[in-house]
Amino acid sequence: TFGQNEITVNADDAKQIISKQIYGHFAEHLGRCVYGGFYVGENSKIPNTAGVRNDVVAALKKLKIANLRWPGGCFADTYHWKDGIGPKDKRPSMVNTWWGGVTENNSFGTHDFLNMCELIGTEPYLAGNVGSGTVQELSDWVQYVNFAGESPMSNLRKQNGRDKPWNVKYWGVGNEAWGCGGNMRPDYYADIYRKYSTFMTGWSEGNIFRIASGANSSDYNWTEVLMKNIPGNMVSGLALHHYSVIDWNRKGPSTTFSEDQYFTTMQRALFMDSLIIKHSAIMDKYDPRKRIALVVDEWGGWYDVEPGSNPGFLYQQNTMRDAMIAGVTLNIFHNHSDRVRMANLAQTINVLQAVLLTNEEKMILTPTYHVMEMYNVHQDAKLLPITIKTKDYTLGNKKLPAVSCSASRDSLGVTHISLVNIDAKNGQDITLNLKGGKYAAVTGRILASGKIEDHNTFENPDKVKPATFNGAVLKGTTLTVKLPACSVVVLELK
Ligand code: AHR
Repeated sequence: TFGQNEITVNADDAKQIISKQIYGHFAEHLGRCVYGGFYVGENSKIPNTAGVRNDVVAALKKLKIANLRWPGGCFADTYHWKDGIGPKDKRPSMVNTWWGGVTENNSFGTHDFLNMCELIGTEPYLAGNVGSGTVQELSDWVQYVNFAGESPMSNLRKQNGRDKPWNVKYWGVGNEAWGCGGNMRPDYYADIYRKYSTFMTGWSEGNIFRIASGANSSDYNWTEVLMKNIPGNMVSGLALHHYSVIDWNRKGPSTTFSEDQYFTTMQRALFMDSLIIKHSAIMDKYDPRKRIALVVDEWGGWYDVEPGSNPGFLYQQNTMRDAMIAGVTLNIFHNHSDRVRMANLAQTINVLQAVLLTNEEKMILTPTYHVMEMYNVHQDAKLLPITIKTKDYTLGNKKLPAVSCSASRDSLGVTHISLVNIDAKNGQDITLNLKGGKYAAVTGRILASGKIEDHNTFENPDKVKPATFNGAVLKGTTLTVKLPACSVVVLELK
């Protein structure tokens, strides 16, 4: 059955650019994200470049990941970057206390990460250690990575084989300062932020983009206190973390979930919209010109780990449910792209809502990968504002809006419209009014599968993959679309 929905796309009212930095990813030293995911070492039989998997580099290039955050997460506030430079056999080991208590041998460090970003063609985003580090240590890291002149740290960098600085723009000043980053109170962190960020300047060509550790989901007071106490010229971005988790004590399985669990996950994902609206309203009070970006540098679904895997490694499968989270969340980010100008899905490989899963030499693309690949046509395109009247997705007496949408026009004048139908059972008939648009033809791609729990495995890697979509009909400025249950569609109008 198909329900009726109406959308107006204001094609004559192109707004701000959807920053491609919304398409950022996250690589923490956690489980098999870095080791076994990105990095296998130069001596591995898995094809690699300086130890980095070639299959991963190719997949992430195709995905057009805009930036990559490293080395954490919680790990970042235990990480001492000087342990990860110089000859690998001389690097000291440490214990990864947050994630499984495993030994970290520091074989993947600053050079390895920044050279890898060059290989992938993505902007690095370094997360500084504020929780257990020092002001000097973070200042030295900026100097090591970015300083072009003669200095103790730039000399050390050259000694370690890198002449030119990498000129890293994005810097996080601690992570989850309210939790694993030091359990600080917002007033205290605001002062700490001011101190650390003061000594990060002076080493780079141009201005670096400093990101303050932001609120945990709906902790609006955190945003208020930071905006009030950190001078606007000291900060470029304020972070926000929100996971689509059902219940922190009962997250539920990643594949064998019920429709009720699916519904709750969707509710948590859609909550991102009100979170952004409320945090933005607070930011507007102190920064009406929206100079400071809201940086959602951790988002995604979080479930129980795969049975039999290390609980500290956060390895989970990725189904059509995750494709729905990705589709609606990116639509939300696009529609709030005046304030949300950067974001990072957690995490890239083998951890939480991953885009890639690896098993020794094998690598598969998840449904989330496919959504992000289909959506990357929106990167740096101009947002076309929409109004939407949608049917409900109902389960018992609970309901959620079934259809989510965003639209943009790229620099070549091509319009893209992304549509998601989260309804697990019912398709949707959608009428789109393309106000002020003049188009000759529509084409499209769809990601859909028989069941919400469908996913790709190492044995069946292409069960869920994009296909050509033939369900859209264009007549003048009216577009009619038949959107199947639990599907993501990206239309292209020329
Ligand atoms: O992404 C996993 C963890 O979630 C990160 O390390 C931390 O910042 C957050 O709590």
